[in-house]
Amino acid sequence: MKKVLSTPSTKMAFLNGLESTQDLLDAQAHVWSHTFNYINSMSLKCAVQLGIPDAIHKHGAPMTLSQLADALSINNTKSNGLFRLMRILVHSKFFDKVKALSEDEDKEEEEAYCLTLASRFLVKDEPLSMATFVVAMIDPTFVDPFHHVSEWFGDDNPSPFFTKNGRNVWEYARVEQSFNQLFNEAMATDARLVTSILVQECKQVFEGLEMMVDVGGGTGIVARGVGAAFPGLKCVVLDLPHVVAGLEGSDKLSFVGGDMFQFIPNADAVFLKWILHDWNDEECVRILKKCKEAIAGSKKNGKKVIIVDIIVGDKGEDDKTTESKLLFDGMMMAEVTGKERSEKEWANLFYTSGFQKYNITPLGLRSVIEVFP
Ligand SMILES: C[S@@+](CC[C@H](N)C(=O)[O-])C[C@H]1O[C@@H](n2cnc3c(N)ncnc32)[C@H](O)[C@@H]1O
Repeated sequence: MKKVLSTPSTKMAFLNGLESTQDLLDAQAHVWSHTFNYINSMSLKCAVQLGIPDAIHKHGAPMTLSQLADALSINNTKSNGLFRLMRILVHSKFFDKVKALSEDEDKEEEEAYCLTLASRFLVKDEPLSMATFVVAMIDPTFVDPFHHVSEWFGDDNPSPFFTKNGRNVWEYARVEQSFNQLFNEAMATDARLVTSILVQECKQVFEGLEMMVDVGGGTGIVARGVGAAFPGLKCVVLDLPHVVAGLEGSDKLSFVGGDMFQFIPNADAVFLKWILHDWNDEECVRILKKCKEAIAGSKKNGKKVIIVDIIVGDKGEDDKTTESKLLFDGMMMAEVTGKERSEKEWANLFYTSGFQKYNITPLGLRSVIEVFP
């Protein structure tokens, strides 16, 4: 018969006589916390799908559980489920609980939920909403490959996404129209937030440029925003044909359907936001060499490649930032061939591709990296 861990002899061997019972229980709690951590993500997604941030925002004041249940028009046998969902989300700091006066005649104080800064970002109609980003990143299309990571370690496929789907993300998006739309909109939500910060905090990066090509620029949010903030700047957005199909430009903005590994239109600057982290080193060098060709003809002194991406291992960053970056790297490993890079790895890519120098401006979890020929 198999021995079980709880038999005294096994326990002693496991403890090795060194750990206290408290250490053992703490270790078990650590295992539990990480085993069930995905429920934080799933609860967040559920809140967005139910429209909880929208309901509280629309109400204009903290909402009691019954007010929230009414506003969401959920099945009325599920209000205890809503209470438990909100308990998780209060704990993960997406909502706060405050005391509010009851609407009953006795005017007793009741507990009510209000938004935090993080959940204000999840209100769908807000210009800088991240709601679609949350739903897209936790979509089964992106989550399912994580069930294939150990299988991928033993096969020849470029990514667990490929192991699961038999094609890469971009090919999948070409074929699955609803995923294509969800992904492009998710990218657009992030692009809105980043552009609003770039044009305020990083003006020097764009000043003096007359022509910029946003490679892998999606639906053109950055190009529109930067073009509006810098009237002398025209932009071309290059992305795969299924991404730019049907998009209308203007006299300052044009869309080109194509493959950045083949051709990048000429410009004073090439903009690459969230592109190079999708690709391995060899692929990045090929892209960067194409970027170098694209800016070669520019007469501008400041011709360059502008990268917005994560730099891992920044000195002095807090634990939460490090964790977010490492998790994003895990996402890259599961979905694409790329990775998040340290400054040393970035520098290596730049010099291998024939660039001479670079300059880093930190921007929250990501940085703006200007790379010069
Ligand atoms: C992670 S998304 C980033 C989108 C956008 N730059 C942003 O940050 O919002 C990567 C983009 O690269 C595009 N892409 C992938 N392969 C490409 C290729 N070979 N040529 C051009 N664009 C490509 C995808 O379609 C997608 O829009």
